[in-house]
Amino acid sequence: MALKSLLLVFLLIAALTAVPMAEAQLGLISGLLGLIRIQGTVFCTANGNMGVNGTSTPVFPYAKVQLQCGAGNTVSSATTNNFGIFSMVLDPLQFVLSSLLSNCNLLVNTPLSNCNLNLPSVGGLLSPLQFIGNTLQGLLNISNIIPSGFQFLPNLNYLF
Ligand SMILES: *[C@@H]1O[C@H](CO)[C@@H](O)[C@H](O)[C@H]1NC(C)=O
Ligand SMILES: *[C@@H]1O[C@H](CO)[C@@H](O)[C@H](O)[C@H]1NC(C)=O
Repeated sequence: MALKSLLLVFLLIAALTAVPMAEAQLGLISGLLGLIRIQGTVFCTANGNMGVNGTSTPVFPYAKVQLQCGAGNTVSSATTNNFGIFSMVLDPLQFVLSSLLSNCNLLVNTPLSNCNLNLPSVGGLLSPLQFIGNTLQGLLNISNIIPSGFQFLPNLNYLF
């Protein structure tokens, strides 16, 4: 009997201490799973942004988008889909939002000539990041980041 209750107490303690550990490993913030999502569209224009024709601006499918931080460290990458959309998900335990925003850029190394032969076959696009707020999706608390605006850099390939 004494052994049984001792075992019960032991199991209880084990269960109580296991919960916060699991939460910490999953990055649970107030019971929600925190995620950082970087999402945007790359357009097939001279600067990668939406043109004067708005949403009918042609997009840049199958472009490789890299998230580079500090001195050219690629920390994540994605490829745009048929609609020119890319999406990256980061673990907030590995990335601090404020330092992501100040130290990291999105880079598109795939030449613009891949989507339009009249556009340059060298150089690439670069955009800083912009935080646009949190959204709750089920048990997820997502911090949303978008490219704040691409620019074309003719010598991008030599910078990184
Ligand atoms: C905008 O659309 C018009 C009509 O389709 C087209 O002639 C023009 O070239 C487009 N402009 C740009 C910058 O894509
Ligand atoms: C979502 O996360 C942010 C910080 O990442 C926090 O400030 C906010 O309170 C969270 N929202 C909820 C409902 O937990």
